[in-house]
Amino acid sequence: MIKALRQDRDLSDEQFRALLETDAYDAELKAAAHAVRLEHYGTDVYLRGLIEFTNYCKNNCLYCGIRRGNQKIRRYRLSEDEILGCCAEGYALGYRTFVLQGGEDPYFTDERICSIVSAIHSRYPDCAITLSIGERSHESYHAYFEAGAERYLLRHETADPVHYAKLHPSDMSCEHRQQCLFDLKHIGYQVGAGLMVGSPFQTTDCLIADLRFLQKLQPDMIGIGPFLSHKDTPFRDEPSGDLKLTLRLLGILRLMFPDVLLPATTALGTLHPLGREMGLQTGGNVVMPNLSPTAVREQYMLYDNKICTGEESAQCKGCLERRVESIGLHIVSSRGDAKCFRRSV
Ligand code: SAM
Ligand code: FES
Repeated sequence: MIKALRQDRDLSDEQFRALLETDAYDAELKAAAHAVRLEHYGTDVYLRGLIEFTNYCKNNCLYCGIRRGNQKIRRYRLSEDEILGCCAEGYALGYRTFVLQGGEDPYFTDERICSIVSAIHSRYPDCAITLSIGERSHESYHAYFEAGAERYLLRHETADPVHYAKLHPSDMSCEHRQQCLFDLKHIGYQVGAGLMVGSPFQTTDCLIADLRFLQKLQPDMIGIGPFLSHKDTPFRDEPSGDLKLTLRLLGILRLMFPDVLLPATTALGTLHPLGREMGLQTGGNVVMPNLSPTAVREQYMLYDNKICTGEESAQCKGCLERRVESIGLHIVSSRGDAKCFRRSV
């Protein structure tokens, strides 16, 4: 099955089910995923500097620590100057991609987002700007693209509408989120979709639907990490996603999409102290260290016990460098575009 997956980049639903539901093939999958990453990306690991610039959110996703309904967190927004300060620090540390992530915060109008994006773009024309600010209109996405944003991360969360409805209030829809992803792609963004492994009510069928959706979308990036509970959300008592299953999915995705950018996520590093290393050894080729000011990191708590909230940006970079080197891979200081993406300019 693993040979077939590597060769054809596809399996039947029943074969995917067999692969997902047992750990019998994990060692072979890991070896194949690592071989494919070496073929396509060598030992390179790309860095993305993550700037969590607002924890205000108008949405109320049941799993998320910064959901509107959580009245226990202190809300913050970074100013344009503070964001530019994070970029300056990141640039000096060798980052060539900045990811601006936040809750869905209406304060950040199109005008404000465009102003921030174009300020970063004009100061750092050699850097890629990634946005991760949720669902907006085609028109807004277009305006950000014109201002200089080239990549967009919007996890689809789950491709099964019934499952989606169990994770989100009724004012949010699976179809709308997926439409946003197609809009982004159509505009010309490098697009990242993704999901939480082990989110409440997730079944193998949901995961197979996710794989089929990803085949349809053909994203440039796929962000997957375990679900982890947050004490002030309705899912406070739900169990965490499974480490082995998360790694298994990373391996499967590397074989299905040999050129895709696949981060070893902070959530994976929170689930297990060596989670990110394991992710990088099972097909992962991206790490996203935090560049947010340490003063606000504790407030961007999507789930309990999130790592890297106390460390300075330089500490996180040094820590990750050591971790990546320890497994024979190397961080490279480049934009790290997806191989499958042809830049139109
Ligand atoms: N608002 C933007 C959006 O909706 O895409 C970006 C921020 S959102 C907090 C980023 C991602 O965090 C989500 O797509 C979700 O998959 C992940 N996330 C939220 N809560 C989580 C949890 N409890 N465990 C693991 N991941 C979580
Ligand atoms: Fe932040 Fe290790 S990456 S402390």
